[in-house]
Order: sequence, then C-alpha cells, then structure tokens
Amino acid sequence: MRVTHLSLTDFRNYAHAEVPLQTGANLFVGRNGQGKTNLVEALGYLSTLGSHRVSDDKAMIRAGEAAAIIRARLEYNGRVILAEVQLNRAGLNRAQVNRSAIRTRDLPRYFSSVVFAPEDLALVRGDPSGRRRFLDQLLVLRTPRLSGVIADYERVLKQRNTLLKSVRGSGAKEHQLSTLDIWDERLVGLGSEIIDERSELVRLLGDPLRAAYRAVVDEDHGPGLLESLSIFGADDDAGATARADEAHRHSPDTADDRPRPTGTGTAAVFREALAGIRRKELERGITLVGPHRDDVVFMLNDLPAKGYASHGESWSFALSLKLASAELLRRDSASGDPVLILDDVFAELDQSRRRRLAEAIGGYEQVLITAAVLDDVPEALAAHTIHIRGGAVVDA
Ligand SMILES: Nc1ncnc2c1ncn2[C@@H]1O[C@H](COP(=O)(O)OP(=O)(O)OP(=O)(O)O)[C@@H](O)[C@H]1O
Ligand SMILES: [Mg+2]
Repeated sequence: MRVTHLSLTDFRNYAHAEVPLQTGANLFVGRNGQGKTNLVEALGYLSTLGSHRVSDDKAMIRAGEAAAIIRARLEYNGRVILAEVQLNRAGLNRAQVNRSAIRTRDLPRYFSSVVFAPEDLALVRGDPSGRRRFLDQLLVLRTPRLSGVIADYERVLKQRNTLLKSVRGSGAKEHQLSTLDIWDERLVGLGSEIIDERSELVRLLGDPLRAAYRAVVDEDHGPGLLESLSIFGADDDAGATARADEAHRHSPDTADDRPRPTGTGTAAVFREALAGIRRKELERGITLVGPHRDDVVFMLNDLPAKGYASHGESWSFALSLKLASAELLRRDSASGDPVLILDDVFAELDQSRRRRLAEAIGGYEQVLITAAVLDDVPEALAAHTIHIRGGAVVDA
C-alpha cells in the first residue's frame, strides 16, 4: 500500500501542510527541530493510534489549538481510501474513512505502517512493557480482531486487581473467593489466547529477524527471541539473565525441551499457576501471572542483548526487529506492503550499513525516510526529496 497524499492541520508545528508522496522512497530533509519526525509521526498514528514518542495524544495538537487533523489518501488493491483522524484536546478523537464516521479504534484496519525511530532502542534496553506493547501492536496489525481480546483482558485484569485489593488485609470472605474464581476463568480464557498468539508471533519473527540482521549488519551474531512466560514461573521483577535461562529459545538449532503452550495446554498451565500463587496475590493485592507479566528476551551472541549488547548492536537489533515485522506484514497482508517509515536511521549507520539497509528496503512499495543531513542517505533513496523548514514544506 502507499500514501499518495498527506494533509495536516494544527498537528505539532504544522498549521497546515499538504504533502504529496510518491511510490518508492520519499526523503524528508531539514535541520534539527523543523518538523520531519512530526510528519512521519502523523502517519504512524493513523496505523497504530499511537505515537512512537508520546503516550498522550494531546502533545500532538499544535500549541494553543483545540484539535489536530491528520488526513491521508491511501491506495491499495486499485482502491483509493481517504482516512482521517481528528485529535481533540477536549472530548474523544474522531475518525472518518471516505468521509463517513467510523469508530476510531477501527482506523488501523485501513492503513498499515511500520515505524523505526531512535526511541526503538528502548525495545532492547527498556522494560518488558515496551516489548509487550511491540508484540501486541504487531498482533493487532496482523489480526485486528485481537485488539478486542487485549482490551477485554485489560479490563478483566483491572477488575480482578480491584477485587484482590479489597480483599487484602481484611481477609477473603467466601463470596469474594467465588467471585475471584469467576474472574480467574475470564482472565485465563482471554489471557491464554494472548499468550498463544504472542508465542506464535515470536516463532514467526525468528527467521525474518535473523535475515534482516544479516542483511544490515553482515555478521552472524545469532539474534534470537526467547519467550519468558509468567505462567511458567518467570518473574517480571527478575533480571533478564535469569529470564533467559528459564525461557525456551526459538532457534532452529536449539531443541525445545519444555512443553510449548498451545491451545488448551496454555489455559491449564495458567489455571494451575493462578492456584499456586493465590495466597501471594491475596497478600499483595495484584495479579502476578498472565500475559501482562510476560517478556520476550532478545538474544545476541547467546547473551541477552539488554545489558550485554553494544550501542550499535542494540540499535541494529531493534532495526532488524522492525524490518522483520514489516516482512511478516507484507507476507500475509491482502493490502500489499506496509508503509515503512525510517526516522533518523541513516545518521547512526556507517557507509556500508547504509548501503546494505538501502538494499534491504529496496523492494518495499513505499518507504518514508527522515534525515537532517542529505548526504547521510544513499543516493538511491534520495530521488524524491521533500525539504522541511519551520513546520512547512519548502523549496530546497
Ligand atoms: N504540539 C506542538 N505544537 C507546536 N510545536 C510543536 C508541538 N510539538 C512539537 N513541536 C515542535 O516541533 C519541533 C520538532 O519537530 P520534529 O521533532 O519533527 O523535528 P525534526 O525535524 O525531526 O528534528 P530532528 O532532526 O532534531 O529530529 C520542535 O521545534 C517542537 O517545539
Ligand atoms: Mg526527528
């Protein structure tokens, strides 16, 4: 798929912008702080309803304004689709497709993109929550129905936690325990589906991750992904090394010696884990096992990347992971390639890796790239260059 035109109104530092885009590479160039990332952030928002930089939508509304509008003309399968979202400072955001209102949360069904930005280094170095978010976002892009399952799980989790808190201290009464049993069943039902879906996704990402890493880095550092599941006793509070030992490795040369959680198996393990930890949960007043406590450990050279990998290695790992996501999406999507967005990537890479990355992304229908320095980007990607200055598209 591709974006043929982007319109912004009161988005970040843009009062108004009309940006025509082409098939293939589009390069946004301009000095620091001019609005390059803002442009691609707007498109990222259309496909994920989130920003790679902030969790609060309001930061994206131009200072002093009440609302921002992102509108994109998309083309795929010979169809033209006009997708639009309005971010409101007060009240709910609103979305439209072809000028008819739709539920905002359905917007990502129409547009798929993969963004890689400097912030993604946190995927490797940061907390498990970022990695869970990464997996869940990709799950929803691949299977939109799962956004409902994830939202339901979060609601059940919240309600279960509220019950656990109310029981804490006062001692559980009979009727509270039977209510807890009901929440447990819902938690297990929804949670097992999420665990299984993530598990399958981690398995699927393995090969494209290794291929992307090899393509960009040109060295075999054996990147891999290890699931670390709380229903098997992995602890969200423990260190990455401990988790790596416990988890099973999704690499063709390492045999799985533990039962993989599939189908009803996951639910049974989950149920058992909840029973085993109930006393502790009643003491602490929170739910201690489930997909909200899981992690996926990134491995490089047989060590967890977090805490061991160099800056450049961590960066290449995060980039490869995003390229692998794009590869999975393009493989299964009925609407063609996702739009690949690379924010400030080339400045971080040496000449040979720049060239290799350019080759690796050459086959994508559309790629959007930002760079402060034109010369950092291989010439093959600079045929369509858009100059940005002070929140406006300008002539060179
Ligand atoms: N809500 C907002 N209202 C007005 N201006 C904003 C808003 N949010 C961000 N800005 C401005 O946008 C500018 C940053 O734009 P952006 O992050 O796109 O820069 P950039 O061109 O990507 O720069 P760099 O090369 O440093 O990454 C800053 O000057 C910032 O003050
Ligand atoms: Mg930027």
